[in-house]
Amino acid sequence: MKKPNEIVAARLGSPLAIGVGEGEFFIASDASPFLEYTNNAVYLEDEEMAIISLHNPLNIRKIKDDRLVSPYVQELKINLEQIEKGGYDHFMLKEIFEQPHAIKDTYRGRLLTDEGIIKMAGIEDHMAKFLNANRIIIVACGTSWHAGLVAEYIIEELVRVPVEVEYASEFRYRNPVIDNSDVVIAISQSGETADTFAALELCKKNKMKTLSIVNVVESSIARNSDLVLPIHCGAEIGVASTKAFTGQMLVLYILTLKISFLKKNIDKNMFEKKIKELKKLPKLIKATLSVESEIENISNTFANAKGSMFLGRGFAYPIAMEGALKLKELCYVHAEGYPAGEMKHGPLALIEEGIPVVVLAPRDKYYEKTLSNMQEVISRGAKVLLISNKSKDEISSENVWKTIEVEKTSDELLPFLLTLPLQILAFHSAKNKGYDIDKPRNLAKSVTVE
Ligand code: G6P
Repeated sequence: MKKPNEIVAARLGSPLAIGVGEGEFFIASDASPFLEYTNNAVYLEDEEMAIISLHNPLNIRKIKDDRLVSPYVQELKINLEQIEKGGYDHFMLKEIFEQPHAIKDTYRGRLLTDEGIIKMAGIEDHMAKFLNANRIIIVACGTSWHAGLVAEYIIEELVRVPVEVEYASEFRYRNPVIDNSDVVIAISQSGETADTFAALELCKKNKMKTLSIVNVVESSIARNSDLVLPIHCGAEIGVASTKAFTGQMLVLYILTLKISFLKKNIDKNMFEKKIKELKKLPKLIKATLSVESEIENISNTFANAKGSMFLGRGFAYPIAMEGALKLKELCYVHAEGYPAGEMKHGPLALIEEGIPVVVLAPRDKYYEKTLSNMQEVISRGAKVLLISNKSKDEISSENVWKTIEVEKTSDELLPFLLTLPLQILAFHSAKNKGYDIDKPRNLAKSVTVE
């Protein structure tokens, strides 16, 4: 070994962060493993290498021509306390119960009610691009993809521009038809997902304006986007995403309101009314989280079933998919999220005596239709957990096994509340089984390889 006191780390494709401590360095794919020791980090670009040796400053060079790069040392805003469990046994439960607070952090400084405006630092100078976009393309993976699907319903409703939501892993390879009149939004909690990053690069190559919605602002996706809207919900450690999901939906909703108002699709009265309602969300989330013990009592049924289904219509459909994904991730049982109206085209054949089915039936324009789909599964033996929202009217549907009611709010904000019982259901089902909730088998928090 010629240089026993030297380590060389190089980046190509996957992220690489160097922690810069006092007389010590750390190498990791993101900053969380070394936050305990230092808040200072350097993020390498592709085709750069860091030459790390005792008693010498950090030496960064371009691999191609050995050119010296002066290291940009960032002071990270996340700290250790944020990544501790704060009295909970599991990060996931802590993160679920942090949502009232996290939501406030997401909209803080953005909803200027007195001035009647929404301010989104980071995109203010580029609003024309959003107002004139012919199409919005959303690329994401996993839970972030579900946030994109919810946004599709809401953007199309309020902005009247077509939205396409794409799995980044498909989009990047299928030669999509895109041009620079489209705007692309990449959604990623970690900002390091390899497929989402590659999809974004493809859009950049096609000269599209790229906006990323991330939690980790120092991430590769954030650094490589034209515009960034952080969700500011604090470090998320549990592998299954919870508070970042509601944060992503919120940033997308605020952005939608802003564009919709500027395009004059909604008038000032309506705009202000929606913002006022939005500001009640933290309280409504807090109140809805009190369903925990009711859900804990029934989680056994989902944990021990050979499979389950989650049904919804409208934006309750992507929330149903998210609920099913959470259960699969954590509880290792098959669960399927499906549009309630599509059951008759196949999945109805799966319904047999005792199979647990979650039906999301908020009292929106789909309510009656969803209840009628619910009766179709009940009559075939399903054990239905109905999740709706509170109202002065009783739910008049027969033979429902259990009903959970979330708080009352406007239709557009219901996805935030409907998600909560499903997060709790997955958590308690996995706890029932004694599984490792924060680190489910075979999964990773950020998937930095293909
Ligand atoms: C992994 C995580 C999921 C996450 C997905 C996308 O699969 O386990 O919780 O939704 O990656 O991650 P991202 O960081 O891009 O949102």
